[in-house]
Amino acid sequence: MARCRCSGRALCLCLLPFLMMSHLLVYIMVTIFVAMSYSPEPQLPLHFIAPGASANSGALASHPLGPFWSLQLVKGSLWNRLQHLQDREHNPILRGNSTKGPTTDVTYMNEDGSSSLCTPDHSWASQLSDYNTMPEQMQDFVLSMHCRNYTLLMDQPDLCTGQDSETEAPLLLMAIKSQVGHFEERQAIRETWGKSGWIKGEEREQMWQVRTVFLLGRQDIMTGPHPDLGALLQMENNLSKDVLQWDFKDTFFNLTLKDILFWNWFSVRCPHAHFIFKGDDDVFVRPGALIDYLHEHLFSLQETKNKFKEKEDVLVGDVIANAYPRRHTATKYYIPESFYDGVYPTYAGGGGVVYSGSLARRLRVVSQWVRMFPIDDVYLGMCIQRLGVSPTHHSGFLTFDLPEADRDKPCAYRKVLLVHKRSPKEMLTLWGKLKSSLQGC
Ligand SMILES: *[C@@H]1O[C@H](CO)[C@@H](O)[C@H](O)[C@H]1NC(C)=O
Ligand SMILES: *[C@@H]1O[C@H](CO)[C@@H](O)[C@H](O)[C@H]1NC(C)=O
Ligand SMILES: *[C@@H]1O[C@H](CO)[C@@H](O)[C@H](O)[C@H]1NC(C)=O
Ligand SMILES: *[C@@H]1O[C@H](CO)[C@@H](O)[C@H](O)[C@H]1NC(C)=O
Repeated sequence: MARCRCSGRALCLCLLPFLMMSHLLVYIMVTIFVAMSYSPEPQLPLHFIAPGASANSGALASHPLGPFWSLQLVKGSLWNRLQHLQDREHNPILRGNSTKGPTTDVTYMNEDGSSSLCTPDHSWASQLSDYNTMPEQMQDFVLSMHCRNYTLLMDQPDLCTGQDSETEAPLLLMAIKSQVGHFEERQAIRETWGKSGWIKGEEREQMWQVRTVFLLGRQDIMTGPHPDLGALLQMENNLSKDVLQWDFKDTFFNLTLKDILFWNWFSVRCPHAHFIFKGDDDVFVRPGALIDYLHEHLFSLQETKNKFKEKEDVLVGDVIANAYPRRHTATKYYIPESFYDGVYPTYAGGGGVVYSGSLARRLRVVSQWVRMFPIDDVYLGMCIQRLGVSPTHHSGFLTFDLPEADRDKPCAYRKVLLVHKRSPKEMLTLWGKLKSSLQGC
């Protein structure tokens, strides 16, 4: 061990290391202090779009921000509180897995043609201090969010029959959200990307069964100042037999009902379809490219039976993570803090997503345990989060469209599966262009 002689220069030399150490210590402490006191508020992106992932392994890990089955009672926002109670009731750890799923049924009109209405429930409104200043659509939602068993007014019982054995089941069922008055949109879709029947992919000759169905609510004299288009809708449906209509007011905040009611319908009328495409009637889809994608990435050949089987629990779309509710009262997406608090789960946004039939069946069950939420794609994200499924990002889902300069160039669409948004006229033009000129790209 080195020893110091306590005299003159030697003392200095001995103390030097200690002096240096203490300076270093002070420096470190000051640095830490400065870093702590001046770190700015973390800037969370309002709308983070996940980076494009390689096509076949694009799984995006979900990032739960806290333990999922929280045991503490949540105070505050209405949805969070209601959901918390529901989560506790159906907690698989507390309750085991004995909880039964809902029974499958499709609610029909009563014999006398009437339908029992869900009565508005004012008990939750009275718990919201700012209820009276909320936008009307939010108020309507709070009064009716307990009800989801609306009568099916227009059914398509035979849409998928003839394919009840698994080999003949449709590869793809396209469920398009539309509105009564959108005759032109629906017809343009039928004539272009939404054709039902045998469709082949762009790269292979193999033919696949595709079915299209439109999801509608009510827009008539009972639900507001609407012209009476009922007879026209009847006529359209007599011709095309692809309209589902339920007895609820077709509004933006009621779109979630279309998903929930569609899952019920699907499990009764078309349970063997391998994949669902759910989209809006203002998007353009390239069904051939979509079929190729499903075939390549989401199907696995079952060696023994020499049959195809879809991958289970996949959901593909334009994935948005870490999005927060919009708090500007001017947007139609506005959600008050008193209704929902916190970040949205990772979800696939925009005009269209693809998911497997087996996921649709599980969604029907889990959705019974997830409180209704007014924004449909966020609600879908909430449901898959509870199933432990992460959405897969695909850069071919262009919910923010192509750059303006590319929109008229057919070759720009080579990697596109879905693009938002296109009018009926644009759909027809684009369809014609892509048919003739995509090979040359
Ligand atoms: C959950 O249910 C399955 C099938 O119903 C059963 O085999 C399994 O033992 C159950 N697990 C628990 C933890 O109860
Ligand atoms: C929905 O369910 C509620 C409660 O079970 C019932 O009161 C109401 O009449 C039902 N509505 C429809 C349209 O079936
Ligand atoms: C639609 O078809 C049904 C039964 O085939 C018929 O009773 C009804 O009059 C038709 N409606 C219209 C508007 O064509
Ligand atoms: C949804 O539809 C129901 C039934 O028609 C209606 O009472 C309710 O106000 C609608 N909700 C919204 C948010 O428009």
